[in-house]
Amino acid sequence: MTPHFNLTNIGYTVADQRILHDITLTVMPGEFITLAGPSGSGKSTLLRLLATLLTPTTGTITYNGQPQAHYDKITYRREVSYCFQQPSLFGETVADNLRFPFEIRKLPFDQTQAEQALANVALAPTMLAKPIISLSGGEKQRVALVRNLLFAPKVLLLDEITTGLDVDTKTIIHTLIAKLNAEGITIVAITHDESEIQAAHRLLHLTAGTLEAKHDK
Ligand SMILES: Nc1ncnc2c1ncn2[C@@H]1O[C@H](COP(=O)(O)OP(=O)(O)O)[C@@H](O)[C@H]1O
Ligand SMILES: [Mg+2]
Repeated sequence: MTPHFNLTNIGYTVADQRILHDITLTVMPGEFITLAGPSGSGKSTLLRLLATLLTPTTGTITYNGQPQAHYDKITYRREVSYCFQQPSLFGETVADNLRFPFEIRKLPFDQTQAEQALANVALAPTMLAKPIISLSGGEKQRVALVRNLLFAPKVLLLDEITTGLDVDTKTIIHTLIAKLNAEGITIVAITHDESEIQAAHRLLHLTAGTLEAKHDK
């Protein structure tokens, strides 16, 4: 099987600061990997490289056996979806955000599909009309996740998306992530959450820009 991602001796330097060095990593389709490590160790940078939000300073990352540069960025980002730690919602209402994935695909908005996707993260259909400014942090994060998942990606990159959320919301999100992985979506999640680490196949640990240990579980 061709790996989803292949990283060989990847380095990332910005403003003379070496943020990542000698990262070698293979991610297979269907894997669920968690990435842990101290603040500032380069976790988000590594995920952004996988997402093509950044380009490695040294080395090449392949996706499905081809260099990332081989892909058109829009196509790539539809397949490899990145969820930020601080979700950014736009427009005025939840519906404005959920219309967006349809618009970029030149498809009519499917309200039933949107409502089902909201139900997957325990949000009611009435949520569609709600103003963004009225949402709690946990609701914002779930709406952002729904926006990313209306059209299923092949890979989901999650950057501490449950940090700071209440236990119930974390459980809802973790349950959804496990379900998506069971359906075949590859997950790479930065997390400090013990239950999420337990659910994963593999735990990677970054220290000062280097992958320190790989625990096969
Ligand atoms: N654009 C940038 N310019 C300068 N320094 C950066 C930039 N992006 C990240 N860094 C630095 O790189 C290091 C790793 O950052 P990051 O990948 O966000 O770590 P983590 O997600 O593990 O907390 C930090 O020291 C951070 O300050
Ligand atoms: Mg980070």
